[in-house]
Amino acid sequence: MIDWNPQLYLKYKDERTQPSIDLVSKIKIENPKSIIDIGCGPGNSSQALVKKWPQSKVTGMDNSPAMIEQAKKDYPDQTWLLRDAVNLDLERKYDLVFSNAVIQWIPNHNKVIPSLFSIVNKNGALAVQVPDFKTMPVNVAIEKVAASSKWSSYTDGCEELLTCHNADYYYIILSSLNAHFEMWETIYFHELESHEALIEWFRSTAMKPYLNKLPREDKKIAFENDVLEECKKSYPVQFNKKIILPFSRLFFVVYK
Ligand SMILES: C[S@@+](CC[C@H](N)C(=O)[O-])C[C@H]1O[C@@H](n2cnc3c(N)ncnc32)[C@H](O)[C@@H]1O
Repeated sequence: MIDWNPQLYLKYKDERTQPSIDLVSKIKIENPKSIIDIGCGPGNSSQALVKKWPQSKVTGMDNSPAMIEQAKKDYPDQTWLLRDAVNLDLERKYDLVFSNAVIQWIPNHNKVIPSLFSIVNKNGALAVQVPDFKTMPVNVAIEKVAASSKWSSYTDGCEELLTCHNADYYYIILSSLNAHFEMWETIYFHELESHEALIEWFRSTAMKPYLNKLPREDKKIAFENDVLEECKKSYPVQFNKKIILPFSRLFFVVYK
């Protein structure tokens, strides 16, 4: 898999970080001493944790060398680990295990969530946000274009690289942990300048696996253009020429 592009990802930094700020505000544990931000990206989500608990030791962990490099550059005083969240083998536990917009990149959430919960200290918490991406019109557009005869020979199987489920699915997993939990969903309505901005948003995230499979720059541009045309059908232009991107995100906090 080609690495992430932190600069492109950070173009929508405020919008991408707001769910972390909202999740942090809901976590009911006092003064966690140790916090790990799983899939910390370029360190933006970790800053929401540092701001809320400045006395805590916040460690950021991600399996992308480019993201960890960016985090080290922007926040040199913090601890950053280049590690994979699959088959976690961290030598220790944390008071708060936090993960914002990450587990959709990992399959088998019925294994991932208990694994993350297993590294939570007693009286600590696991706090997660996962985007409800699969049903979003932009994803429907990406999958439709990718499945067309023009692109399917390149992009076959990409749709399986993103995993997100509905609340019923997560409810079953969380209930099996025998712990108190809270779960909720929020729809963010992001104002974007144009349909091109919508493509720009997803170029560095959900469209990335598809673009990575295309052999040349001209093919990537043509694929993006086809997705753009599909998106025009499902995201109407508003009275002021802008686009609204409704983005639904599921949150949960489990207490140990
Ligand atoms: C959408 S970004 C989220 C970044 C940040 N947490 C935020 O809230 O903006 C997803 C991040 O998850 C990381 N990631 C994906 N799969 C991972 C894995 N198996 N282990 C560790 N990090 C992973 C990616 O490298 C990327 O930095």
